[in-house]
Amino acid sequence: MKLKEYLLKFAELQTLYDMVKQDFLTKGLVHHNWNHILRDLAKGIIIGEEEGADMKIVLAGILLHDIGRLHPELGRDHHSAGAEIASQYLRTAGFVDEEIRKVVHCIKSHGLRGLEEPRTLEAKVCYDVDVLSCSVGYIGVARVFDYFMREEGMNVKEMIKIPSGRKRLREDFYTETGRRLGGEGLKKARKFWEELNREFSEEEQGIRAIIPDYEEG
Ligand SMILES: [Fe+2]
Ligand SMILES: [Fe+2]
Repeated sequence: MKLKEYLLKFAELQTLYDMVKQDFLTKGLVHHNWNHILRDLAKGIIIGEEEGADMKIVLAGILLHDIGRLHPELGRDHHSAGAEIASQYLRTAGFVDEEIRKVVHCIKSHGLRGLEEPRTLEAKVCYDVDVLSCSVGYIGVARVFDYFMREEGMNVKEMIKIPSGRKRLREDFYTETGRRLGGEGLKKARKFWEELNREFSEEEQGIRAIIPDYEEG
């Protein structure tokens, strides 16, 4: 189904969509922008439909998964900030308590840095969408550069020194569809990061042999 058809089918989802879109467009983050959400919604539809997930929950989870990033004033990681703020959005949009609980779990558990392991099918879909959009293939690599450089203002050295970020034990993917779509791309991206690291330290060694106090700037 197309995104538009889901928005027509679930009036609360349409309301939520309009609220979240407005927020992303006004806050203007350079990487985690409205396009990021749109790309993830499309991936959520592909994976969620194939897995037979409750699409109202999946799409609400994806709409709100990074909403915490729009609220740095809370001074918390975007998972817990997002989980807190999301309830207000969902209530205003007309979601009922049971749905809110399910969507909040999707937000808390999305991606490799999630606060908890995804337990429901809908949270597993949101998790896999996040991995697919941030960590897979050369597009994933390019998006990591884009995020750390434009949104965090880092240089290459600072960026590649950041640990992979996996919290506790997490699977690469939690759905068959996610694994089928992203398994090869994930290997490709990991290989790239390994090789980049290796080249970087070789280059640095060469420079330090000539200029011992050289620091990457
Ligand atoms: Fe995201
Ligand atoms: Fe996120």
